[in-house]
Amino acid sequence: MSSTSSTSPKYNFDVVKYFAVMAVVWGIVGMSVGVLIAAQLVWPELNFDSPYLTFSRIRPLHTNAVIFAFGGCALFATSYYVVQRTCQTGLFSDRLAWFTFWGWQVIILAAAITLPLGYTTSKEYAELEWPIDILIAVVWIAYAIVFFGTIVKRKTSHIYVANWFYGGFILTVAVLHIGNSMAIPVNMMKSYSIYSGAVDAMMQWWYGHNAVGFFLTAGFLGMMYYFVPKQAERPVYSYRLSVVHFWALVSLYIWAGPHHLHYTALPDWTQSLGMVMSVILFVPSWGGMINGIMTLSGAWHKLRTDPILRFLIVSLSFYGMSTFEGPMMAIKSVNALSHYTDWTVGHVHSGALGWVAMVSIGSLYHLIPKVFGKEQMYSTKLINTHFWLATIGVVLYIVAMWISGVMEGMMWRMVNEDGTLMYSFVEIVEKKMPYNILRWIGGCFVVTGMLTMLYNVVKTIKSDKRADATNNLAAQPA
Ligand code: HEM
Ligand code: HEM
Repeated sequence: MSSTSSTSPKYNFDVVKYFAVMAVVWGIVGMSVGVLIAAQLVWPELNFDSPYLTFSRIRPLHTNAVIFAFGGCALFATSYYVVQRTCQTGLFSDRLAWFTFWGWQVIILAAAITLPLGYTTSKEYAELEWPIDILIAVVWIAYAIVFFGTIVKRKTSHIYVANWFYGGFILTVAVLHIGNSMAIPVNMMKSYSIYSGAVDAMMQWWYGHNAVGFFLTAGFLGMMYYFVPKQAERPVYSYRLSVVHFWALVSLYIWAGPHHLHYTALPDWTQSLGMVMSVILFVPSWGGMINGIMTLSGAWHKLRTDPILRFLIVSLSFYGMSTFEGPMMAIKSVNALSHYTDWTVGHVHSGALGWVAMVSIGSLYHLIPKVFGKEQMYSTKLINTHFWLATIGVVLYIVAMWISGVMEGMMWRMVNEDGTLMYSFVEIVEKKMPYNILRWIGGCFVVTGMLTMLYNVVKTIKSDKRADATNNLAAQPA
């Protein structure tokens, strides 16, 4: 474990290494569970008649594993790396940083055990029961202390914009998690939310939407603002735009939650407010996307030869797509069609697989050789293979879900002359089958890509091609 001193800062890259490798491992686990539930939607017998493997129990296992285990480890790894590099100092406390690593892994294991056993609060993306929730709060506060402590002891005069995004993400997730998880325990594995009725729903989707806005967006924008310029070897296109982007994004996201509750018992004006804020949210989202993509100005040719840069730039294109689609889906009349259909699932994965997973993968490919003191990744060819597997997989997934979702929404609406529904539930499910199979195939592509990544990472770690002294961050301070 590295230590820090005031004269010669020594980075703690060991904790970054652990988080980075676990991001790859949990990515494979979480996405494989995604492939399994995708298969169950085609071949339901794949639950093997076991209560532990029913769709209802392993679907939250998938969402928790990909968002919090894969996404979470990628965010911890990159934020600890970026904050040290840009502040030119070691972490505030190595001990606390290791506590966040082991604490986070214990939380993931607790989720992997309790969810299949059927313990759940039934709040989406906040399913874990109260003892685990308390542990999450403790680990998260430790994370905040390490991150902000490092900013306070920085050797640079200003705070680089990536840290603003990481900082916003860390603070807001603490508030969201603690606010939404308030509950009265009945026993060790059962609790009831302190909120009830429509207020509970509103709290849940204030949390749920901002989990998207801050966990799945702001943190990954922090990644984008560091790794895109680094990999492109160009400064950020507009620093001013990045600051406007930050403040506009954080001040708008927080209001948009009610778009998840259109046509419910929530007061109508709240739904309209959520809709308007969501539509406006398009502007800062695209501002950020343009800022990232335009960073490549003068370096477009690098896309031809650098698959890591391709991961990063294609992730931004998916970010642009999902943040155009989201505001459209927030319009009440559009939501009347999209809600309860696969369209939502397609939107989720264009954001989650296209944006979140691809920006993480690109950043990890940049970071892993650096923290392990190697010249570069073991095989650039394999990164390229991974890029195509991931891109084809995501496109198959989301195109299948768009067609299936719009078809499904239209079929729900069709009525006979006497006002009865034209299609029964089963008929609609039957029609969706080809698209469900296509989504499953897309998922298999994505997981195969992740397996090539694991192989490439293991070979890189084992390789003896060390970076030369001037390039070896693992051996050198700032
Ligand atoms: C191999 C890749 C993946 C496959 C095959 C896959 C598959 C699935 C399936 C079948 C569902 C259930 C849909 C339903 O209930 O109708 C689902 C839900 C979900 N997945 Fe994935 N997934 C993958 C990757 C990811 C990743 C990387 C993330 C996030 C970073 C993610 C986040 C989610 C979320 C948030 C939901 C819940 C969607 C909702 O409630 O509308 N998935 N996934
Ligand atoms: C301007 C940005 C965005 C807006 C306004 C937006 C809007 C929406 C809307 C209207 C829904 C459907 C709600 C429903 O009918 O139940 C939705 C669902 C969802 N979106 Fe987005 N979206 C945005 C960006 C993103 C991004 C970038 C991601 C992922 C990284 C994402 C992840 C999700 C998830 C996970 C859900 C499903 C929630 C659930 O029902 O479980 N969104 N979004």
